[in-house]
Order: sequence, then C-alpha cells, then structure tokens
Amino acid sequence: MAAVEFKDVNKVFGKDVKAVSDLSLGIKDGEFMVLVGPSGCGKTTALRIVAGLEEASGGDVFIGSVRVNDVPPKDRDIAMVFQNYALYPHMTVYDNIAFGLRLRELKGFFWEMAHLKDAREIRQSIDDRVREVAKMLGIDQLLLRRPRELSGGQRQRVALARAIVRKPKVFLMDEPLSNLDAKLRIQTRAELIRLHRTLGITTLYVTHDQVEAMTMGQRMAIMKDGLLQQVDEPERVYAEPANKFVAGFVGSPPMNFFDAKIMKMGDRFFVDASDFKLALPAGHAAQNLEGQAVTLGIRPEAIFDAALDGPMKGTAENTFDAKVDVVEALGHQYVAYLKIGAQTLVASLDANSGIRNQENARVAIDSNQIHIFDASTEQAIR
Ligand SMILES: Nc1ncnc2c1ncn2[C@@H]1O[C@H](COP(=O)(O)OP(=O)(O)OP(=O)(O)O)[C@@H](O)[C@H]1O
Ligand SMILES: [Mg+2]
Repeated sequence: MAAVEFKDVNKVFGKDVKAVSDLSLGIKDGEFMVLVGPSGCGKTTALRIVAGLEEASGGDVFIGSVRVNDVPPKDRDIAMVFQNYALYPHMTVYDNIAFGLRLRELKGFFWEMAHLKDAREIRQSIDDRVREVAKMLGIDQLLLRRPRELSGGQRQRVALARAIVRKPKVFLMDEPLSNLDAKLRIQTRAELIRLHRTLGITTLYVTHDQVEAMTMGQRMAIMKDGLLQQVDEPERVYAEPANKFVAGFVGSPPMNFFDAKIMKMGDRFFVDASDFKLALPAGHAAQNLEGQAVTLGIRPEAIFDAALDGPMKGTAENTFDAKVDVVEALGHQYVAYLKIGAQTLVASLDANSGIRNQENARVAIDSNQIHIFDASTEQAIR
C-alpha cells in the first residue's frame, strides 16, 4: 500500500483545454478517496495521470515517497478498473483473472512467488489466489464461463477481480459501476466498501454521482472545470460546503438558492429573500455583511411542517405560510414544492406530514441549517 499525492498538477490538452488546474490532493495510505464532479471536470484525466497513461503538463505525482512522473505505468504497481472494462472475450473467467498474475510471474515480478521453486508451485499459488478473489466477489461458480455468457454485473465483477487479484499498491477506479442497473449498483457499491475494509488498499475512485461519493468515500474531493473545490469527509461536505457549487452538487433534492440581503431590525440580523425573512442564529458570520447581497441556501431537509415535531417546534420564529404546489410521495418522505409569495421552495417532509393533502401549509425553516454565500465569489460565509 502507499499514499498518493498530487502536487500542483496541471494538464493542458492542445493549446487551451485546461483539463486539470493546479491540483494538490493527498490520498492517505489505505484511504478510499472519491473524486467527484460533473462531466468534463477532469476526473478521468487526473486518474490517468496517476496511472501514467497521461503525462502531466506540470507538477508532480507521488506514490508512496516516490515521484512517479517518469516511472512507466507498468512499474507503478497500480491496478485500474475502467468504466468500459475490456475482458478478453476468448478467455474463461478464470483465465481473465489469472492473466495478469501469469504475466507478472513470467517477468519475475510477483514478489509472493520469489521464494517458490518450481512451475507447479507457482501454478498452485496463482490458482489459490484466483479462487480466493473469485469467492470474495461471488463469481467462483462462473470461472469456466466466457465473458459473453455473463450478465453485465458479473462481467463488472470479473473486471474487479482481475484488478484485485494482483494486490497492487493503489487501486484506480473510473466509474466502475456505471454499467450496472440501480439494484446491482447499490449491491456492488456495498461489496466494494467491504472489499476495501478487508484489503485496505489505497483507492482513488472516480464518479460523477454524488450519492456514490457520499456513500463510498472516506473522504471526497469535488472538482469543477479542472479545479478542486473541496476535500473532506462526506458529512462535512454536506454540512459545511465550501461554496455554492459544492452546496448545490451534494444532496438530493438539491439545495434551494435565493438572492437575498443581510439586514438588521432592532438588534437582530435577518437574511431577506424578499418574500420571506429569516432571523439569523446569534453570532452568525453574515452579521458583518449588513446591507450586502448574498445567496441564501436552504436544504429541502431544513424545511419542516410546522405542525409536526421539528427543531423549531413551539417557536413562532422563521415559520411561514406557504402554498402547496406539487407533492411527490417517496414512501418514507414527501418532496413538496412550496410557494412562499413568488419564491418556490423544495421541501423534503416527514411521511407523517399532513401537508400533502393541503393547499395551504405552515412551514418552519431551521436557521441553524441555512447556508449563506457571498453573492459574487460564491464562497460560504460561516
Ligand atoms: N485527449 C484529449 N484531448 C483533448 N481534450 C481532452 C482529452 N481528454 C480529455 N479532454 C478534455 O479534458 C476535459 C476533462 O476530461 P475528462 O475526461 O478528464 O473529464 P471527466 O471528468 O472524466 O468527465 P466524464 O464524467 O464525462 O467522464 C474535458 O474538457 C475533455 O474534453
Ligand atoms: Mg471520465
């Protein structure tokens, strides 16, 4: 195992396509780090630079304590799982998994075998390893089949097995679950987390799916337009997004945003979104911005049915009359589209809420859960 580090890494394609800009990011030894962001933000490029499949235009990449800029891909001891994993179609599952091991053994690279004396022992050792990994991934009954005789999910697991069997220092995974249906994706997601717990191999996992990032990553790194926006544990990213982009990217349904202004009435500070005003929690950093334009962010989960138990139960503060526009039932919760004056708010309401049957409702907004962003820089103010 080894840590991976990007130091001021840049990648420019052609004259002016800046795929990755000044990326500095450390992945700890044994950590599962998810690199997430919208399409085209530079995730695959960053991964390929670690793999050595793409040369950085500037900056350094370290694996362990070794600067690997000039180390050829085959000597970096990494295993990469691509989105469109290509299995060898003419080989059985077994041979697909064993292939890399045999190659390494031929080249005399496989350290585990250094002490083994003859070909039979080596073959036995490869056999043990293939079967162990196949069992781990639940494909041990399929070893004699060929890829075309497998479902998409099974193929994906063969591709994973092929990477895992080598016990590399680092795993690089580029959207490895994207070809799976929703149910299988959730199942394989859990499998990968379990696998990481067992093997503890440093993993850099790329996805554009914020749910995958939130559920899988010990930490997540969010990118946009080649620029790193924030790196932290998922809970922290959710609770304290660094800027408006991250705030809107993480969470579902997404955060509501409003143009607003900070104002003072009496000795209290408010954030005024014209159709409603929220009293700020005492001591909020936005108090220093009296009169300034800001963006107010409210997560759907911070809006409550005022008639039900909630953080604001019993207080009249920050409760509003709303019109109920559309309600989507999801079983455990309701997603309600509410109107306060001309403003639309998406609220994620408890399944006990009676709001779904109403035209008018009283809703409460928990001001301890609101987010305020500088209107021009879009950086969080807290
Ligand atoms: N070989 C290339 N030549 C020129 N431009 C490229 C090349 N590869 C990638 N790019 C550009 O670099 C940017 C980043 O691409 P990259 O593949 O890293 O994005 P990504 O985050 O992986 O996106 P996706 O989620 O769609 O896979 C994009 O603007 C892309 O068009
Ligand atoms: Mg990509």
